[in-house]
Amino acid sequence: MILADTALFQCGVLLYNRTVVNIKNKEVLMRLLITGGVGFIGSNYINWHLQQYPGDEIVCLDKLTYAANMAALADVVKLNNFTFIQGDICDEKFLEMCFAQYKFDAVINFAAESHVDTSIISPAIFTKTNVEGTGVLLDACVKFAVEKFHQISTDEVYGDKPLDYDWRGFTEESPLQPSSPYAASKAAADLLCLAYARTYGLYVTISRSSNNYGKWQHTEKLLPKIISLAEHGQKVPVYGSGLNKRDWLYVLDHCVAVDKIIRHGKAGHIYNVAAGTEMSNLTFIKLVLKILAKDENAIEFTEDRAGHDLRYPMDCEKIKNELDWTPQYAFKEALDETVAWYRSRML
Ligand SMILES: NC(=O)c1ccc[n+]([C@@H]2O[C@H](COP(=O)([O-])OP(=O)(O)OC[C@H]3O[C@@H](n4cnc5c(N)ncnc54)[C@H](O)[C@@H]3O)[C@@H](O)[C@H]2O)c1
Repeated sequence: MILADTALFQCGVLLYNRTVVNIKNKEVLMRLLITGGVGFIGSNYINWHLQQYPGDEIVCLDKLTYAANMAALADVVKLNNFTFIQGDICDEKFLEMCFAQYKFDAVINFAAESHVDTSIISPAIFTKTNVEGTGVLLDACVKFAVEKFHQISTDEVYGDKPLDYDWRGFTEESPLQPSSPYAASKAAADLLCLAYARTYGLYVTISRSSNNYGKWQHTEKLLPKIISLAEHGQKVPVYGSGLNKRDWLYVLDHCVAVDKIIRHGKAGHIYNVAAGTEMSNLTFIKLVLKILAKDENAIEFTEDRAGHDLRYPMDCEKIKNELDWTPQYAFKEALDETVAWYRSRML
């Protein structure tokens, strides 16, 4: 069954179309739209999902911004049950044509502008893609009666807690107090999702994860940036005192969490996802330098980021108790492997 048609070609650039799967047994086969699937987490998710569920079919829609890297999908573009479409989630007409054509069972929205520093300099595109784009996607899901919509969100929507805070972390009911334009745009998108669940009865779920690490992240982000700078003998900057903390989640643990939520999460519910590996940015940078066998003298303290969140302690009991999710990857081993992977690509 060839699913692309001329109209779709006119609206977007259909680069890879290998879709030949006939949906004979709907019970064992799900057709998913993955938006932002050429970015860091989305591409890891697609690779993981198609390995776990070879009977499912994935359509990946991505605008291909600077953050996208098609190499991350090299293993799946050959598959018959994978299709890539270049397009913008803000483009209503284009989305409607895709939805009419493919009749998705579920949509997972990874598409976003994702870099906090950029959001401080150029916030408008964050509102456009992260808020408006999510709204356009939600409209299409309602219009085409998509069974499930999952929004990939972030711990940053909660705002921060003091460094010495030692009480319960943010729960899914905690108030939204985002600090950066990025976090505010993600919080706004979460609220839109919840409103569509309530008003239109759309089966919406949301995951709010901590910092991810793993393969295929853009070099603007902390881990690949440390590795790239250190490997090239350059200074590794750390914001302010370096004492701000982050909780590091291996990207494949995140993929499993998202899958569990899509299959078993409750409609209109939010799930926090973190690995419990919170440490200061300075400790993290020193650890990476140690793995690289580089001297700590490479570290350079720089002016702090405006509005820099101190830490995001999250309570993840809900996903553990309701969906039986716990992180499976040991932090140090997964970090060692990830660092080795980036390093090998730089040699
Ligand atoms: N990276 C993290 O540590 C982290 C942590 C928590 C939550 N998140 C969230 O996870 C999601 C994915 O993050 P990431 O790190 O993979 O981001 P990324 O920047 O690596 O990838 C984003 C992808 O979205 C695409 N995109 C951007 N605008 C688009 C548009 N208008 N239409 C279609 N595609 C568009 C880009 O081309 C890119 O491929 C984001 O929603 C982000 O907020 C990320």
